[in-house]
Parts: sequence; C-alpha cells; structure tokens
Amino acid sequence: MQILNHNDLSLAQGTDPGEPGKLTEDNLSVQLTPYFSSSQITLYRGDAAILLSKMPNDSVDCIVTSPPYYGKRDYGIVGQLGLEDHPQAYIDKLVEVFSRAKRILKPAGSLWINIGDTYWSGKGRSHGEDAKQKNRRFNRPQDKRGTGPWCVPKQLLLIPHRFAIAMQEDGWVVRNDNVWYKPAPIPDPIADRCSLAHEYVFHFVKQRKYYFNAKAVAIPSNGKRETKPPFSVWIVPTVSEQTTSYRKKHIAAFPEQLVSLPILATCPPNGILLDPFCGSGTALFAAIARGEGRKAIGIDISEEALQETKSIADLFEKCRV
Ligand SMILES: C[S@@+](CC[C@H](N)C(=O)[O-])C[C@H]1O[C@@H](n2cnc3c(N)ncnc32)[C@H](O)[C@@H]1O
Repeated sequence: MQILNHNDLSLAQGTDPGEPGKLTEDNLSVQLTPYFSSSQITLYRGDAAILLSKMPNDSVDCIVTSPPYYGKRDYGIVGQLGLEDHPQAYIDKLVEVFSRAKRILKPAGSLWINIGDTYWSGKGRSHGEDAKQKNRRFNRPQDKRGTGPWCVPKQLLLIPHRFAIAMQEDGWVVRNDNVWYKPAPIPDPIADRCSLAHEYVFHFVKQRKYYFNAKAVAIPSNGKRETKPPFSVWIVPTVSEQTTSYRKKHIAAFPEQLVSLPILATCPPNGILLDPFCGSGTALFAAIARGEGRKAIGIDISEEALQETKSIADLFEKCRV
C-alpha cells in the first residue's frame, strides 16, 4: 500500500481531484496522512470526495458543514467545487461527496448542511467595479449564456432544495430545511425583487431513530410544558454583521452561532464531529469548545484555510495545558 503525505495526496489522483467518481484502484490505496493533528483536532488537506472514501466506516457522530456555494467564489485551487458549468453538475458532485460521507457517519448520526442560493445572470463576464460587481472578478458560471430552463437571466436556481431532493433520492432522510435569517445582510442592489436575507441549514439523517438531545436545545414555553422544541427559523447575524475584535482571514466563514444547535443536539459527549469543507474550522472549534471529550476532524482543499485552522487549533491546545 502506498503512503503519501498530505501534499502528495491532492496530486496523487492522476485525474482532476475535483471530479468525484474518477478514483482509480491506485489512488484508492493511498492512505490518509493528517496535515495536522492535536489531542482534539485532526485536519486533512485535499479533495473531500477522495479523502472521505479513505475514512473508516461508522466513525463520526455528526457532520456539520458548508460546501462552497454555486458560482460564489473562486478559491483558485484545482479540484475546488462550485464553478461547474451547469448547476446540475454542482448538485451531482455535492451528492456524491455526501454519499461517501454517509458510510463514515454512524447509523444514529446527523448531517447538517448550510447552503445558499444563486441567480442565473447570463450577462457575460463583468469588467466593472460597481458594488454589485465586486464579487464578480472571476469567470462565474452563471454569467455565461446558459442552456435549459434553469439557466436563463434572473432565474433563482433553487439550488438548496434541488440539492435536498437529490439527497432524498440518494437515500437520506430530510428532517428540516431550517432557515438561517440574517437580520442585516450585505445590501443587494436590485430594484425588481426582494433582497435575499436567508440561507438554509438542512438536517439529514440515515435512519428513523437517531441521536438527538432535545433537552439541550429546547426553548422556554408558556404552555403546560416548561420547554418546547426550537423553531426552524434561526436568527443569526453573519460574521460581517458581528462586532468582534477577532477577524478571520477566510472569506466564507459561517458564524459559530449557526452551528451551536446542530452540535448541542447531535454531537454527544465524547463524540466526533466531521466538517469535510472546514475552511477556517468554525464547526470544529465550536464542537471542541463544548468540552465533554468532543473531538473534531476537518478536511479542506485549501492550504491557506488549513493554516488558519491549524493556528487556531494551536491556541486551543495551549489553553488546555
Ligand atoms: C464555505 S467555505 C467553508 C467555511 C467554513 N465553514 C468556515 O467557517 O470557515 C467552503 C470551503 O470548501 C473548500 N473546498 C472547495 N472545494 C473543495 C473540495 N473539493 N474538497 C474540500 N474542500 C473544498 C474551500 O477551500 C473552502 O474553504
């Protein structure tokens, strides 16, 4: 069996590492070597689909993640997800990643996925500098001339729900399409529709009975019972809305508050959380900060992101001693 280090791994596939399903027998025999490992956190660098296919069965209690959104960012890395020509190709790749993650998730485990939507624009590549175009300095797939009924100008692609339906078809049970409501989102300079102020956090499970600590996430009730289940609309300011002295370098970090409910409800004491698109590690640190022996595993294709995660993990480790 071939053993490679993390730097070799993303180059070792003999194919575009961003194309799940193109694994060969050779690269399946590559063993996992961590990019970083501490008493509580293990990080792997490379393509999520490939690395997930090398992890042991039933080895994590919950998966909490946010994949790259469709056409939102160019991380400038071969194999990155999110820049596929057609949204269907993006959805297919995501479903493939999570079908590999399913084998690793324990039977009573939960999968939580934060995902946002995108409009098709079809306007061609932008060269401008106005507010709306600041995010468009790369060749976004949705700016090209599209094919088929989804890819027409002004169309909301409905990616989150198309993705959730594809996950259902792949055998996942959808428990909630929780809405993340952002009280003060980045202004959307449009004049003929409502401004988007929400994303989704889907909760998927593998089977009818699963671990869910209802008590840990219950909210006060005025009725006969003292508490009731939490609502499916979560009001959480984005990272840029929050006033904090510490600013992460990662441009797409989600707020820690967004992952508290998933962790409290579905990552048991001594449990292991996995984030296959961990970026700056928000979900990993939120899990280990809860204590009670929780551990976390992160995967990301970007060395820059993992460097940031590693430096925060080092601080956590120092605080332990
Ligand atoms: C939305 S960001 C996640 C941010 C993270 N939740 C945080 O709070 O920092 C998505 C991440 O997916 C990574 N990524 C993109 N394509 C990937 C792939 N094929 N395999 C693994 N990671 C990938 C990007 O480098 C990026 O850090």
